[in-house]
Amino acid sequence: MTSTILVTGGTGYIGSHTTVLLLQAGYRVLILDNFCNSDASVLDRIEHICGIRPDVVEGDIRDAALLESLFAHHPITAIMHFAGLKAVGESTQKPLEYYSANVGGSVCLLQAAQNAGVKTFVFSSSATVYGDPVNLPITETHPRSTTNPYGHTKLVIEDILESLYYSEPEWRIARLRYFNPVGAHPSGLIGEAPQGTPNNLMPYVAQVATGLRPQVQVFGNDYNTPDGTGVRDYIHVMDLAQGHLAALRYCQQQAQTLLTVNLGTGKGFSVLEMIKAFEAASGRPIPYGITPRRPGDIAACWADTTLAAQTLGWTAGLDIRQMCEDAWRWEMRRANQEAAG
Ligand code: NAD
Ligand code: UD1
Repeated sequence: MTSTILVTGGTGYIGSHTTVLLLQAGYRVLILDNFCNSDASVLDRIEHICGIRPDVVEGDIRDAALLESLFAHHPITAIMHFAGLKAVGESTQKPLEYYSANVGGSVCLLQAAQNAGVKTFVFSSSATVYGDPVNLPITETHPRSTTNPYGHTKLVIEDILESLYYSEPEWRIARLRYFNPVGAHPSGLIGEAPQGTPNNLMPYVAQVATGLRPQVQVFGNDYNTPDGTGVRDYIHVMDLAQGHLAALRYCQQQAQTLLTVNLGTGKGFSVLEMIKAFEAASGRPIPYGITPRRPGDIAACWADTTLAAQTLGWTAGLDIRQMCEDAWRWEMRRANQEAAG
């Protein structure tokens, strides 16, 4: 039987794009998602893109009995673990929910995997573990620190995976540190669908372009960057999804591994550059105003991508024009659907 990849959080933003590539690469996919930040309609759209529908179970990664039954009834050989809560601001309001879902959920999942003897595990970490970087580009050996509970959950899960690996070196673990994922599948059928007001820049910019919001608030133009606005390493979600496949294949080829790797482009763009790029892609004006810095924000952050290229043979290929064009196609489709009711 074809090996099955358990994809937790597979109906979410990054998980859905990775599921598409897994299915297209011939893997069977079993999604476990509690739909707290997604909805089941994405499954129809994944099927539309691939011609194959992933198996889906609605449930929580903290449900040990459910996990035991999934491992018992499916030929799972590897896990891609996307499920978790991800809003930095919310994590400061509801820290226990974040520690429970992210740390508690990961431990529960790892215990079930260990019991079932499934020891290939790809984890969604984040560049947030680098805190305020002391040098750029950021290599994987950069010291880690965090300023909020969300970031701390990522740091703790990274440490749990390391402890596990040292206790049982037959594990094959990839800790993937994403920089700033943006964009959407080129079909416009799947993309990021934030609930309420977007926290992140690019979904907000897209909603200004559709007219849903009047203007972008640029959080500070007094940073030590070329135009004074924050600089980030934006990575197309399709490149990020390809990075997951490369990491999975890498793990599958190793007898044992604990890989920690940046997934970024290695290039930084400012808030104003991203607004201009989105204006060009959408053909719409994007009004903006300068407001004070957002607490907790850093000036600049971009990846050293050497290790990803060397170990995974993977580099990001899509530029900010493609990120903005694909995000715009998706946003227009969403706006039209909502208008149609
Ligand atoms: P997302 O919210 O779109 O997807 C997460 C999915 O997990 C959702 O479908 C949600 O319903 C599900 N989920 C949440 N808690 C669950 C639980 N307890 N049990 C089962 N399912 C649960 O987020 P995303 O942007 O796709 O992010 C995926 C992962 O990547 C997360 O772990 C996130 O922290 C990490 N990450 C994201 C970014 C980013 O900017 N999007 C950056 C770095 C790291
Ligand atoms: C944020 C999170 C980070 C998380 C990442 C991806 C914070 C403090 N950090 O990072 O932990 O890993 O998202 O989910 O929330 N900006 C504006 N106006 C806006 C929104 C953002 O000017 O309305 C600016 C920010 O100041 C920043 C840049 O745009 O300079 C990117 O912001 P964002 O998309 O929120 O990502 P990060 O701040 O990098």
